[in-house]
Amino acid sequence: MRKKVKTSDVKIANRVRYDMGKIEELAESIEKFGIIHPPVVDEEMNIIAGGRRFTAMRDILKLEEIEVDVLQNTDEITRRELELEENIQRKDLTWQEELAATKELHELKIAIHGPRVKGIEVPGRWGVQDTADTIDRTKGSVSMDLKLAEGIEQYPEIADEPNKFQAMKKLKQLEEEAILRELSSREVDIEQDYVNLVQGDCLEELRKIPENSIALAVTDPPWGVGMDKNSQLSRKTTIEYDDSTEESLELIRLCAKELYRVLAEDSHLFMFCAITHLYSMIQSLEDAGFEVDSIPAVWVKEGGGSPAKGFSLPSAYEIFLHAWKGRRELNSGRSNVFQFNRVPSAQKVHSAQKPEALLEEIIELASDPGDTVVDCFAGSGATAIAAARRKRKAICIEKSPANFARMREHVNEFLIQEGVDRGGEVEEA
Ligand SMILES: C[S@@+](CC[C@H](N)C(=O)[O-])C[C@H]1O[C@@H](n2cnc3c(N)ncnc32)[C@H](O)[C@@H]1O
Repeated sequence: MRKKVKTSDVKIANRVRYDMGKIEELAESIEKFGIIHPPVVDEEMNIIAGGRRFTAMRDILKLEEIEVDVLQNTDEITRRELELEENIQRKDLTWQEELAATKELHELKIAIHGPRVKGIEVPGRWGVQDTADTIDRTKGSVSMDLKLAEGIEQYPEIADEPNKFQAMKKLKQLEEEAILRELSSREVDIEQDYVNLVQGDCLEELRKIPENSIALAVTDPPWGVGMDKNSQLSRKTTIEYDDSTEESLELIRLCAKELYRVLAEDSHLFMFCAITHLYSMIQSLEDAGFEVDSIPAVWVKEGGGSPAKGFSLPSAYEIFLHAWKGRRELNSGRSNVFQFNRVPSAQKVHSAQKPEALLEEIIELASDPGDTVVDCFAGSGATAIAAARRKRKAICIEKSPANFARMREHVNEFLIQEGVDRGGEVEEA
């Protein structure tokens, strides 16, 4: 119901809008064109929507009487809902105000309707899509507001960023720094942690592991084939290391020594390798103390369709070296040809990702349940997943923070989905 009231009778309090912004401009426009949408009040004359318009008329135009729309029979929650909905849809909120109001509205709606739980269909429950529909926005942009609003509570400095996108970038950076701080403060505890994901340089991190404590090493070092200079690589992999032949072979040489030290007296090592560097890698492993099978094992990459016609034969296999320390028998007899499907591109989180089934087979062959497996060039974390499936513990080291973040998410998702006991490791997403 629309009616004329005295401005002195209207009450305005507890507003979303605490920055009145360009209130003079609004007053000018009202003076010139009149008011199209009068402020909305409840029966007690409390402003529900249109607080800025009201302030412009009362404080700038000094009107003593104005028109308002009176909403009848509204409770406290409905009033707040209306107020938030209207405020959010206005274009002149600062980004900080907009996301605070979006979060409040979303939480209010959930309190009224109950939360929608992924995978469980209960009619009438409230989710992000419903909030997005209410305020005429996309689900993605509302999700971003909700994440940012929470982020600001944890890191208030984000609010100083000029816009939401910069703020999101800052939030990701701060979150990543916090993860790295947490991880670097942790000592590797192979007794406690079921899946231990470590961000750092493999040489430094391997040095923290006690000698003779690991049952098996399965790893896939940089290939030393100039990947860092290859612009054709998928966006899923971040090459943050020097992949020149010299650097890689030196890294593998030093790493072989550390792996020999941490491996148990009777244990095995499997190391993927570029065919071009086969003999240098055998040499490095032997120099470290391993006995090495000079005939590499082969992963025959099944699936992936027929290659296009061209001038060369695209490779459909990879090789890996098998080495051992002491004399531990393998758990079963098998040939050195391993036939396993490639990881479909759409499912990859790392361009060099190995199939978990292949790694499971290797782990099953050369370790026992409860043993610890190390992968010091972890990439996607496929070794951690394979080890967990086979009830082994895993220590997976990855140097690149970007690859590490993807690995962490990937492994975490697996652990949550399969309900694997994670000991003291990664917290839920
Ligand atoms: C060939 S990829 C491993 C892919 C992995 N096998 C998988 O299935 O996802 C090698 C990985 O080692 C990482 N890396 C390179 N230098 C490293 C170092 N010094 N310490 C630890 N990780 C390193 C790279 O960032 C890269 O992700």
